[in-house]
Amino acid sequence: MADLDDLREGADFSKEPVRNQTFHIKGSDNLDWGMKDRLSRIFRPSTGKTVMLAFDHGFIMGPTSGLERIDLSITPLIKYADCLMGARGMIRSSIPADSNKAICLRSDAGTSILTELNYNVLIDIQDAIRLNASAIAIMASVGDAATEAITMANICRAVDAGQKAGIPVMGVTAVGKDMARDARYFSLASRMCAENGANIVKTYYCDGFEKVTSSCPVPIVIAGGKKLPELDALELCYKAINDGASGVDMGRNVFQSEAPAAMIQAVSAVVHENLTSSVAFEMFNDLKAK
Ligand code: R5P
Repeated sequence: MADLDDLREGADFSKEPVRNQTFHIKGSDNLDWGMKDRLSRIFRPSTGKTVMLAFDHGFIMGPTSGLERIDLSITPLIKYADCLMGARGMIRSSIPADSNKAICLRSDAGTSILTELNYNVLIDIQDAIRLNASAIAIMASVGDAATEAITMANICRAVDAGQKAGIPVMGVTAVGKDMARDARYFSLASRMCAENGANIVKTYYCDGFEKVTSSCPVPIVIAGGKKLPELDALELCYKAINDGASGVDMGRNVFQSEAPAAMIQAVSAVVHENLTSSVAFEMFNDLKAK
């Protein structure tokens, strides 16, 4: 183990594009064909970015607002997303199999919001194969003494299984109660996921986010977090993309919006067309009025 006495925080991340990069997805040049094919279903080859629609919240919190009936609330939004992120029970029961969208399958499971979080176990990779998943999503709770080792071991085991099946892993950084939501913490958590083999990292936007993206060798997508006013959520997307994020994995700010279909289209325009938040907000209002 490295000597921790003189642990120096990295500071030289450079704005230079990643070298030796020809494939449209960061850090993926040396992957096998099947991995690249699956990642290309998630990240549009034309932009290198993605809008993932997250609706896996019920796996820890039950029927939260906006997800009471996934067949009614999420199905109409499918056509606007690049990728659907959900748990296997909801994919099988509520998502039409002819949607022909990439699936990022929530592939760990465990405790609910009623008890301690993060004691998760992995779902068998065979089920991800059966569901034709384009990626599997696994949580890592870096900095939480009780569960950090368990969840990082889950990432490693998922990467081992994913490598055999050609299925990419998305590391999902969970924030421990006592952790500061700053660039130093998210850089550590994101880099740990990538160093252990995750092909995508989902994390949260923060001040100094460029440090998080530039120090992570694979694409970062941001979660939206709690519901914000639409303009603020669009500004969050805009800042994240301009600070190096490769897309969003957004849930509540879409399905809890007053106009979810308008919102996901506005988010997509920010991600793929680099619309500013104010222009995207006008687009949201126009679409909402129709
Ligand atoms: C968190 O672990 C869940 O997996 C959600 O998918 C994630 O937080 C994204 O949803 P939201 O944009 O609502 O935060």
